[in-house]
Amino acid sequence: MFSHQISGDIYLKLLELNDATDLFAITDGSRNYLREWLPWVDGTKSVDDSKSFIEMTMNQYASNNGFQAGIWFCNQLVGCIGYHAMDWANRKTSIGYWLAEDFQGHGIMTQATQALVDIAITEYKLNRVEISAAVENQKSRAIPERLGFEEEGCLHQNEWLYDHFVDHILYATLQSKWKR
Ligand SMILES: CC(C)(COP(=O)(O)OP(=O)(O)OC[C@H]1O[C@@H](n2cnc3c(N)ncnc32)[C@H](O)[C@@H]1OP(=O)(O)O)[C@@H](O)C(=O)NCCC(=O)NCCS
Repeated sequence: MFSHQISGDIYLKLLELNDATDLFAITDGSRNYLREWLPWVDGTKSVDDSKSFIEMTMNQYASNNGFQAGIWFCNQLVGCIGYHAMDWANRKTSIGYWLAEDFQGHGIMTQATQALVDIAITEYKLNRVEISAAVENQKSRAIPERLGFEEEGCLHQNEWLYDHFVDHILYATLQSKWKR
């Protein structure tokens, strides 16, 4: 079972079914802010929807296709981070993340992302880690930029967000370039 202490206050742990109530509460409490950039928010209407998500993440982990972790800050669930999937043949993955609105601005996600890149490269022996973010999502783009990822280009109309497409900027780091 994956868990990882990042600092005295911050740790990551695989989501479990008994986290569903807290996961739904932070999603619901940040609904308007999260839906600007995340496509699944309107479809998350009840604790059962959060449970279904957690079940999906448990299957992902069991089938050796990466994982989704909750982020705990001062013993409170404040967000999620994970690998979308593992491309073992090409030794690469991509990372996605979100934080409850009130917990932005402390560097929690930058540190969590750094930990997931470290794990991808040192434990899973991957060669390439990608992060993509909507062009106008400055807070998300700032994370790979802060961690020294390279900007590789623009993915046109890469994501459908409720009623419109958004372009993404693709960032990546390589095993040979990643410095702890
Ligand atoms: C994207 C998202 C996770 C970024 O959250 P964030 O709080 O800005 O990111 P961090 O937790 O890394 O915090 C960085 C901020 O804390 C500050 N900070 C404080 N201590 C820090 C530390 N030790 N390390 C890094 N940054 C630190 C930084 O200066 C920065 O502040 P600024 O934005 O005023 O410059 C958040 O905005 C979010 O969940 N958005 C909605 C969902 C979303 O867009 N997901 C991504 C889809 S691609």
